[in-house]
Amino acid sequence: MARIVVIGAVARDEVIRLTGPLRAGGHLSGVADGIRLGGGGANTALALAAAGHAVRLLAAVGHDAGGDALLAELAAAGVDISAIVRLDQPTTHSLLCIDPDGERTVINLCRCEERDPPERLLDMPADLVYVRSRRADLAPLLTATARRGAQVVAHLPPSLPDSRPASILLASASDLSEQERRSLWALGRYVAGDEVRWVVMTEGAAGARAVNEQEQHRVAAESVQALDTTGAGDAFAAGLLHGLACGQALPEALAMAVRFGTESIRWTRSALPVVVVQRLLVPVARNT
Ligand SMILES: Nc1ncnc2c1ncn2[C@@H]1O[C@H](COP(=O)(O)OP(=O)(O)O)[C@@H](O)[C@H]1O
Ligand SMILES: [Mg+2]
Repeated sequence: MARIVVIGAVARDEVIRLTGPLRAGGHLSGVADGIRLGGGGANTALALAAAGHAVRLLAAVGHDAGGDALLAELAAAGVDISAIVRLDQPTTHSLLCIDPDGERTVINLCRCEERDPPERLLDMPADLVYVRSRRADLAPLLTATARRGAQVVAHLPPSLPDSRPASILLASASDLSEQERRSLWALGRYVAGDEVRWVVMTEGAAGARAVNEQEQHRVAAESVQALDTTGAGDAFAAGLLHGLACGQALPEALAMAVRFGTESIRWTRSALPVVVVQRLLVPVARNT
């Protein structure tokens, strides 16, 4: 079991199931499918807690009923919520439009965000820190965290120079330009500086790849029927962090990550259900 701090959003995901494809300028029909727990930080934290790690989520929610409900659900699932602050803003709220192929489009309606960088990170003992935040002012905190012995894994964006001093960078191909996808290692050096060891890019149905100066690894995804691709990248990150926490080398952790990501699209949830995570862990137990 590792001590893992996840920095990222916890959100109310309001779901609309579209009856046809998403089309700009179109007149669409859909069915409201309720509100569920989501947000990139929460999705990864929940899967890691289900995998047996001591997970603390560093986030912010509002002083509203939505915030109360999210905190209660996270705590019941075993996520440490002591680093989640309450702010005088509405809780983060996103609209998820799921098309008939299971692909999701996210519309962020409001973001509950602290004004200043979360200095409390420096008081938290951690083996791994995962950053899923667009804040551009986290670099000094991440550098200090790495100096204290934690491995930092960060998701892009932002793709700003020296904004994410991390040993591993993650990005979704859908968030990168053609030029960034072609020169992933150069992008990693630009964003993370000298400390970067790997840049990992997820490619939806095609799986994922990892590169550094010397090596390239690709893992294909199993072909499955997508019910809901929400949180696939977050489940992928949980699989990668779990592999690293178990002492796996990156190529092995990459395979675990792809399995987590692909499993997540079979479920109409934003985060992987606990029993599903536990089933995914069985092959690791055999390897170790
Ligand atoms: N249609 C799909 N078929 C199989 N696996 C998928 C599919 N979409 C996503 N995945 C899995 O989830 C991982 C992350 O998905 P991706 O779509 O790249 O991230 P994001 O959620 O950031 O858009 C992929 O590496 C893959 O393992
Ligand atoms: Mg995707």
